[in-house]
Amino acid sequence: MDKSLRPAVIAGNWKMNKLRGEARALVEGILPALAKADCRVIACVPFTDLETVLEAARGSRLHIGAQNCHWAQSGAYTGEISAPMLAEMGVEYVILGHSERRQYFGETDATVNARLKAALASGLRVILCVGETLEQRQRGITAPVCSMQVRSALYEIPEAAMGDLLIAYEPVWAIGTGKTATAAQAGEVCGLIRDTVADLYSGRVAERLCIQYGGSMNPGNAAELLDQPDIDGGLIGGASLRAEEFAQIIQAASR
Ligand code: 13P
Repeated sequence: MDKSLRPAVIAGNWKMNKLRGEARALVEGILPALAKADCRVIACVPFTDLETVLEAARGSRLHIGAQNCHWAQSGAYTGEISAPMLAEMGVEYVILGHSERRQYFGETDATVNARLKAALASGLRVILCVGETLEQRQRGITAPVCSMQVRSALYEIPEAAMGDLLIAYEPVWAIGTGKTATAAQAGEVCGLIRDTVADLYSGRVAERLCIQYGGSMNPGNAAELLDQPDIDGGLIGGASLRAEEFAQIIQAASR
């Protein structure tokens, strides 16, 4: 497969971190690294930081995303945020199906699919997260688990929408633990995800799909992970909260 068909994409997932002043400072710290970056860079920030970060990034090459959205356009869903609300603000991306949402907030493959449809219908681009738990890996069912998560999330998603989708492979056991999948382990599952998409749509769609790795990616391991033929970028948690480290990962992805 020709990796040059897929520009590298480095996304920071800030999770539930950064008050507004801190968010502005972090964006200002990241912006200089973008001047010489040869990859797409996204910051996925808490809802309450979106306005600040959109303003701080205006006119720059930094793309802004949220970390979830609801499946309904509007309605009686206390505490939720809809895709049209994000799109109206000028938000471009949204992370869906993150394992922390699956683990702590009752997210299922069905709700991920519903959110995905809503996000795409509002013109948002989606970073869809999939990944196995430690127990699933130890039982040898990583491949069917990840493949099923991809198939369920993409149920009834038309081929024409696939250009607005990225998939992030995030093994749950590697998130925030300092344990990274080896480059070979990560590359293997990313390849399997690409095969699943080829099977669902076509080889052409699969070879254009950006697949990121996420899970303790840092300046020390980014280059090796990004060197894998099926890894086109990274979804970075902890290291995205520190401008210097995030800048080093952006540099590693600039090929
Ligand atoms: P860490 O980089 O902190 O392991 O988080 C990964 C992640 O969950 C990104 O979405």
